[in-house]
Amino acid sequence: MPRHTDHLRADHALVRRALAALAAIGQYSVVGGNLPAEDTAELLQFLREFLLTVHFRKESDHVWPALVMRGDDFCAGKVGDLLRLQTEVTDLVHALMLLWEPLGDLSAAEREAFHGTIEELTSRVLHMQEIEERWLLPATDAAVPHDDQIDWSAAFQSLDQRHDDWVASVERLSSRWLD
Ligand SMILES: [Fe+2]
Repeated sequence: MPRHTDHLRADHALVRRALAALAAIGQYSVVGGNLPAEDTAELLQFLREFLLTVHFRKESDHVWPALVMRGDDFCAGKVGDLLRLQTEVTDLVHALMLLWEPLGDLSAAEREAFHGTIEELTSRVLHMQEIEERWLLPATDAAVPHDDQIDWSAAFQSLDQRHDDWVASVERLSSRWLD
């Protein structure tokens, strides 16, 4: 049976792919292309629904509380760092949604702001993933007993009912913008 931490690593790869596609759109826009309305909307919706709601809740509602209980002070400190980054990432996703105007094109200054916000968001998300993959997911495998994880599969499934749709959406958009 796959480990719950591997499930989270797979989520990270999906988020990285979506962010790379969004960055490619930001780059295209900053050099003068019109923002592709539907693709931009779909990627922002993915970040808001999958990253902020589904993925963060798997970790914050289930995994990190168990790790703080079973792990050491170093892990607890890193979880604190992550929760601060999570707030910043949430604010940046909301800022992108406010910047983006689906009905009209953006001014040059707005395109720069959109592109810059995507870069800030990407750097924070990659920092979070590095903390998790380097320290916290290995610590979860080592310190949180299987019995403590027994409810996680059902909880993840219940949060992630649109998982296959998101994977298909990110795959389609990233192959359009990246490959
Ligand atoms: Fe994560």
